[in-house]
Amino acid sequence: MIATQVPTTAAEAADFTGMTFPHYKHLTAVPSHLDITPLLVTATVDDVPAGLALGAIPKPGYQAPPTLFSLYTAPAFRHQGVGTRLMEVFHHEVAARGGELIRTIYMTGKDVSAHFERILEKTGWEKPQPRMAAIKADLRQIRAMNPPWLQERRFDASRFSIVPWREITDAQKDALRRSHEADRWIAEDLAPWKHEANYDPVTSCAVLRDGALVSWVINHRLADGTTRFTCSFAHPRLQRYGVVMWLYKEAVDQMEKHNRRFGMWTVPLHHPAMHAFATRWMKPCAVYFRETMGCEKILTSDRIPV
Ligand SMILES: CC(C)(COP(=O)(O)OP(=O)(O)OC[C@H]1O[C@@H](n2cnc3c(N)ncnc32)[C@H](O)[C@@H]1OP(=O)(O)O)[C@@H](O)C(=O)NCCC(=O)NCCS
Repeated sequence: MIATQVPTTAAEAADFTGMTFPHYKHLTAVPSHLDITPLLVTATVDDVPAGLALGAIPKPGYQAPPTLFSLYTAPAFRHQGVGTRLMEVFHHEVAARGGELIRTIYMTGKDVSAHFERILEKTGWEKPQPRMAAIKADLRQIRAMNPPWLQERRFDASRFSIVPWREITDAQKDALRRSHEADRWIAEDLAPWKHEANYDPVTSCAVLRDGALVSWVINHRLADGTTRFTCSFAHPRLQRYGVVMWLYKEAVDQMEKHNRRFGMWTVPLHHPAMHAFATRWMKPCAVYFRETMGCEKILTSDRIPV
C-alpha cells in the first residue's frame, strides 16, 4: 500500500535524502534554515521508502511561485502509481499553504521523461513549453558535413581581427561596458562579463573592429573534456554578416589543434537565430540533444484526491 507523509523531522526525512538530484540534496534537510521553505512529500510502499517529491514554497516577499524541483520513485517501485500519488499530494500540500500555481523545469531526453510528462498530463499541468536546448555534438561529424560556417572566412582584415579572449585588455573590456551603458546593445544574458569566470583560454575568442570589441564567444571546458560554448554574441548591426560564425570556426579550429572532440551548446529559446543554427548544424551530429522544458500547474480549480 502506498502511504505518503510530509516529514517534519530529520529522522523522518533520513531515508529519502538521496531521492533527488545532487544539486538539490541540501533542500532535504529538515527543518530548513534557507530563504525558501523546502516542501518534501515522501512515499512508502508497505513501509519501504519508495519515492520523494521535492519542491519549495517561497517565503513572503519572494517573487517566484512554489516550485517542484524533482519527483523520484525508486526503480523497484516504478509504474505502480507512486509518482502520480506523490504529485497529487504535492499539489494538495502547496494548495494547503496558500499556493495557487506551481512551476517546474525539467530536462527531456531520458527514458523516463515520457513517464514524468504523463504524470504532468494526468494531474492537470499546462502543456510543457521548451526553454533551452542542450546539444552535445561530435566535431568529426560536424567536419564531415563540411558546413559553410567552417569554411574559410572572408572579411576586411584592415578593420576586423580575431583574437583569443585572453588577449583582450581591461581597457577594451571597460570600453565595451561603457558602450553598452550608452546604447544597451548587448543581450542581458550574453554579456561576456557574466560568463568570464573560469573561461576556457584555448577556445574563447573575440572579434575586434577598429580595435573595439564587437563579438565574442566565451567557452568553458567541462570536467569530461567537452568544450561548452557558453555565451556568444555579436553587435546587432553585425549579426547578419555571421560574425559569430567566424568565432565558432576559430573555436573549432583550436579544439582540433588541441585534440578536443566534443562540443556542447546550450541555447536559450528566446534567441531564435542561435536556436535555428544549433538545430540546423549541431542536432544532426548530436551525441545528445536535450531540451529543458518549463511547465505550470494552476491549483485554484483543482479537485484534490486525498
Ligand atoms: C518519472 C518517475 C517519477 C515516474 O514514477 P512512477 O512511480 O513510475 O510513476 P507512475 O507509476 O505514477 O506512472 C506514471 C506514468 O508513467 C508511465 N510509466 C511509468 N513507468 C512505466 C513503464 N515502466 N513503462 C511504461 N510506462 C511507464 C505510465 O504512462 C504511467 O501512467 P499510466 O499508468 O497512467 O499510464 C520515475 O520514473 C523516476 O523517478 N524517474 C527518475 C527521476 C526523474 O527523471 N524524474 C522526473 C524529472 S524530475
